[in-house]
Amino acid sequence: MRRGSVAQLVAIGIVCGGVAALVAIFIPWLPDPASRQAGRIDFVFWFVTVICIAIFALVAAVIIYSLVNFRAQPGEDLDGPPIHGHTGLEIAWTAVPAALVTSISIVSAIVLAKNDHVPKASAANPLKPLVVDVTAQQFAWSFQYPDFGKVTSATLKLPLRAPVKLRITSLDVIHSFWVPEFGQKQDAVPGSINKLVITPDRLGTYPVICTELCGLGHALMRSRAEVMPEQQFLSWAKGQQKQLGGGSTSASGKAVFTNNGCSSCHTFKPAGSTAKIGPDLDNLKQEAQQAGQPLEQFIRQSIVDPNAYVQPGYQKGIMPTTFSSLPKAQLEALVKYLASGGKQ
Ligand code: CUA
Repeated sequence: MRRGSVAQLVAIGIVCGGVAALVAIFIPWLPDPASRQAGRIDFVFWFVTVICIAIFALVAAVIIYSLVNFRAQPGEDLDGPPIHGHTGLEIAWTAVPAALVTSISIVSAIVLAKNDHVPKASAANPLKPLVVDVTAQQFAWSFQYPDFGKVTSATLKLPLRAPVKLRITSLDVIHSFWVPEFGQKQDAVPGSINKLVITPDRLGTYPVICTELCGLGHALMRSRAEVMPEQQFLSWAKGQQKQLGGGSTSASGKAVFTNNGCSSCHTFKPAGSTAKIGPDLDNLKQEAQQAGQPLEQFIRQSIVDPNAYVQPGYQKGIMPTTFSSLPKAQLEALVKYLASGGKQ
């Protein structure tokens, strides 16, 4: 091969590789990682991308070089010279991809294993792995903190840099838990508990998304993950725990409403919710009258046995039946809260 052709090949390769690199770097394909696990996934992404760019540059250079230098001249209709293989080249194009694919699988296996591992408490992680029970149901998330009594939240609050073990389950159909900035998805399956480990390493608020088509409200089944300094998290969790412990008889109706995700399907002005999947709860009085039932009885029945009577214009079977398992004090607080138009 002449020196001129090698220079030409290299030049084409550099241009093609450069264009591919610009596309990889300047288009935000993945969100900025906000957890150690997502950081590792990001590493695998770049590891694979760099290999792909190198192979693309090589292949593009050879194709473009051949198109330019070996194209048929006008009027030329001879066959090309017969070529009977090239052992060295064939060994190279088998061995190199095999080595690359093997290295990708080894790197991926290491990252998967590390991401599944729950780190032990240490000087850097004084909190032992924080356990959060994640419950999905049509169409809301709720997060329980068994380390802090019965503390429940409609948003996922996490301390910075503490390893967190999520135990994910569902009350009705299959959902899937996803925070793009945390990098991993995990299914929420009724009757089983799936694990997901997260070590948040960036402060901020990130979306929690349901990423499994689960029904009419699937697109609205969203919450937030808030990563906060450890002290702030502890004072929030302990404050909540105290509230639950102290005034246990007076469960707050508003808290029950929020923690059970009612706002992801219903409009209710006092709670600031505007969702339109289920009936508007600002009109409960008229709706109860239409149903011919006393207001509180109508509300209670609609919560625990939602298919017994369905507001005209709405479909049966959309409102989950799982709220029949609400503890009695919480149910009554919720009924009072709704019946009073948010005043109690
Ligand atoms: Cu839950 Cu989609």
